[in-house]
Amino acid sequence: MSSDTVNTGRRRFLTTATSAVGVAGVVGIAVPFVGSWNPSAKAEAAGAPVKFDISKIEEGQMTVVEWRGKPVYVLRRTEEQVAGLAQLDASLKDPQSEISDQPAYIEGEARSIKPEIMVFVGLCTHLGCAPKFRPEVGATDLGGDEWLGGFFCPCHGSKFDLAGRVYSGVPASTNLVVPPYSFEDDITLVIGVDEEAA
Ligand code: FES
Repeated sequence: MSSDTVNTGRRRFLTTATSAVGVAGVVGIAVPFVGSWNPSAKAEAAGAPVKFDISKIEEGQMTVVEWRGKPVYVLRRTEEQVAGLAQLDASLKDPQSEISDQPAYIEGEARSIKPEIMVFVGLCTHLGCAPKFRPEVGATDLGGDEWLGGFFCPCHGSKFDLAGRVYSGVPASTNLVVPPYSFEDDITLVIGVDEEAA
């Protein structure tokens, strides 16, 4: 094999490796790809805040953004989905997040700064599996008429509503964790920076 051939092969390898690093910031799991403006992988690993353009998420859709090595789920709820949250209190363990950790500026059933935009760490509060997005109202395997959409953990069956609030009668005991976040402007979500500090 000539040295030219070897060099060409090495260049191709380096190009492939560089491309792989370039897309490492956003994880898409069974959701449409949405672009973002993440900082470099090195900055993320160090815990830098991550910015994300929420205008790319359509109503009723969710995407996953990596922050500090964790999957952060970002969901754009419809008006009907936000309205439905108030109907669920009797079925939940901690409807007002009195025992679950969350930032002080998050309160009420919606658990969010903007009613339509839900942001939480996508790790089950039981043993850390990734809950699946199950938005179908009335899903028969998740409670039928009482299921208004939410998240289901396949590991041991914990269920959460569209605000990440845990249902009664499942292994997880607290709501999904809301990370510190804020909005730089109407469409720029900043994960990792509190509203007070923004
Ligand atoms: S890890 Fe989710 S129910 Fe156990």
